[in-house]
Amino acid sequence: MPTLTNKRVLLGITGGIAAYKCAELSRLLIKAGAEVRVVMTRAAREFVTPLTMQALTGNRVHLDLLDADAEAAMGHIELARWADLVLVAPASADFLARAAAGRADDLLTTLLLATSASVAVAPAMNQGMWSDPATRRNLDALQARAWRVFGPAEGDQACGDVGPGRMLEPAELLESCAGLFAGEPLAGRHLLITGGPTREAIDPVRFLSNHSSGKMAYALAAEAAAAGARVSLVSGPVALPAPERVARIDVVSAEQMRAAVLERIGDADVFIGVAAVADYRPAQAAVEKMKKNEREMRLELVRNPDIISEVAGLAERPFVVGFAAETADLLANGREKLERKGLDLLFANDATGTFDSDEVAATAIFAGGELEIPRSRKEAAARKMLALIAERLPAAAAST
Ligand code: C5P
Repeated sequence: MPTLTNKRVLLGITGGIAAYKCAELSRLLIKAGAEVRVVMTRAAREFVTPLTMQALTGNRVHLDLLDADAEAAMGHIELARWADLVLVAPASADFLARAAAGRADDLLTTLLLATSASVAVAPAMNQGMWSDPATRRNLDALQARAWRVFGPAEGDQACGDVGPGRMLEPAELLESCAGLFAGEPLAGRHLLITGGPTREAIDPVRFLSNHSSGKMAYALAAEAAAAGARVSLVSGPVALPAPERVARIDVVSAEQMRAAVLERIGDADVFIGVAAVADYRPAQAAVEKMKKNEREMRLELVRNPDIISEVAGLAERPFVVGFAAETADLLANGREKLERKGLDLLFANDATGTFDSDEVAATAIFAGGELEIPRSRKEAAARKMLALIAERLPAAAAST
């Protein structure tokens, strides 16, 4: 089944009878995992109503360039930045001419000039208009700007003619859109990520924990979602907002984190354990707040479950990636952890100064070797880490 997991598709509808097929098209795009926003030209509104498209996509339809209210909500530049793909379907002969000329006289043409997203058009027009040299020239000019042209198909036309100019069917357009992202190795994969610290209760007001900020896990989750993965982020208590397009599951203790992970591991393709899970917890959390009557206090601690080892030991296991923050002998300790815990890949980093930092340097350690990830912002490092995971994924999947 074609997938568009987490992709943001801006559907531009121009004025043609094939516009009626956009209701079905938007439904299929959403079913494939995409978030859809719709921009309609004035002529498009003669064929299908904005209310129909709003009801189907769950988002307000964008209509005018010079509308102060609309621009305040999500203006043309925000829309241009928001999209991963702009699909214009149907693309009328007039729209193709205006776009080829680089005009910016309505919302759709303007945002198309501003966007760095992929652009695809699905032409729909009378066969004579399609064959006209002017339309051919316009198409050539748009293809030279790396725009993709989906269709048109040949056959019966609404005007009674027979020939090329029919818009592709919604299912065919969905296939073509998904094909644009099919080369992305994480597209449609389920990534389960743990992040942040855990808190182990001593009594109702006190706990044991650590300095983990969750920034690395959140950066990985955000970048994976942007790469088309379905992302579940099991997070200990942190001060960060949930990344867009990511399902966050909040937990507090290591035992809760373990339960949340095991509940979701069944269909995960990749597990990334970034969380700084507390190794020990108080043997018993006091029910009432403990009084400070004594000069000394002793806490009896018991080992917490090692979540990542448990995941790596499952009969049906995903590709398992660990993190190791070390203060000494980074590589030796890292490799020992990779082997002892049965991981596919481990990122080792120096624990001093990385916990609350926006930057990280790490060494990727795997069975066949090592790779340096030079110090950079956690978002950039996350992209490199995900590329490495994606590269190693098929081999590991084939071996299980
Ligand atoms: O704490 P340690 O250095 O052993 O952590 C290495 C890896 O193991 C990390 O990926 C961490 O998320 C994971 N881990 C875990 N459960 C624990 C301890 C660590 O999943 N109880």
